[in-house]
Amino acid sequence: MSLLDTPLTRRLGIEVPLICGAMYPCSNPELVAAVSDAGGIGIVQPLSLTYVHGYDFRDGLRAIRRRTAKPIGMNVLIEQSSQAYLERMRRFLEIALEEGIRFYVTSLGNPRWVVERVAPVGGVVYHDVTERKWAEKGLAGGVHGLIAVNDRAGGHAGPKSAEQLLAEVADLGVPVVCAGGIGDAAAFVAALRLGYAGAQLGTRFIATDECRASPEYKQAIVAATEQDIVLTERVTGVPLAVIRTPYVERVGTRAGPIARWLLRGRRTKHFMRTAYALRSIWKLKRSLMNGSSSKDYWQAGKSVAGIHAIAAAGTVVREFAAAARAG
Ligand SMILES: Cc1cc2nc3c(=O)[nH]c(=O)nc-3n(C[C@H](O)[C@H](O)[C@H](O)COP(=O)(O)O)c2cc1C
Repeated sequence: MSLLDTPLTRRLGIEVPLICGAMYPCSNPELVAAVSDAGGIGIVQPLSLTYVHGYDFRDGLRAIRRRTAKPIGMNVLIEQSSQAYLERMRRFLEIALEEGIRFYVTSLGNPRWVVERVAPVGGVVYHDVTERKWAEKGLAGGVHGLIAVNDRAGGHAGPKSAEQLLAEVADLGVPVVCAGGIGDAAAFVAALRLGYAGAQLGTRFIATDECRASPEYKQAIVAATEQDIVLTERVTGVPLAVIRTPYVERVGTRAGPIARWLLRGRRTKHFMRTAYALRSIWKLKRSLMNGSSSKDYWQAGKSVAGIHAIAAAGTVVREFAAAARAG
């Protein structure tokens, strides 16, 4: 049986078990469409589509649709601390359903309300998890699969290795997708051989022609080694994987003492998280297209180790698929 024939490809009706993960601020319509069109599946990040790339949400989904008729997905980031944000996310979900999206990747929080809305119309929900306890919570909410975010991932990495994490959740009875550390075709094939139903990639797809990140940011990914990836608390208040630039070296990676104290406090932590979220949304947007790294954060995971050239996103998907067919 082909390594490409997995519960993920069968359920979603796609050819390659390769997800271009949601990326704030890097997900733009051209990138999402290119991955889907080549046989994988691109995930829309709603804030990236609207706030960073300037689309009305529905128009943005239609811009993707004009580029491909194949399935796409949407990220529902469940951030409980802001009611206004949650309301907005609910509206985005309704529009996405109206526009025919049937695959949802939930992150953080309790995904039950997403499942309750999506499953009755034949939709599929996979939940991002970093440990077994979050997987159990997601499954109690009815999710259909898990995305296991490991310690090599870009964005907010988890504490466990790809092997450890699969061993922890394999017996839960749903397909598990590997997220983190996959930069080349060999790593993709290795994840499928390990028993994963697919892979979710972020960093590899930033270094593509279709991603609207600055040439300097893409080049920094190509040039970086695994040792250049550090976790900083200074952007979102929790560890975020970024490339160590002179700026990151200068300001350090720990949150300031006052911020740390406020993040710990029972009453202040929600306020502080919201403050961080708002500031990081602005900061990361600015960093995406800026050519200079003088005050910017370039997010990337340890998969930089396997990324040696900027390529078309479709070429990446096809190369990975060919390696899986051969292996
Ligand atoms: C720049 C960047 C932004 C990300 N933003 C999000 C996000 O908004 N929501 C989310 O669920 N995951 C986000 N992620 C995680 C990715 O979807 C994916 O799981 C991760 O990048 C996989 O690790 P890799 O970068 O080693 O391939 C982000 C990752 C990166 C690199």
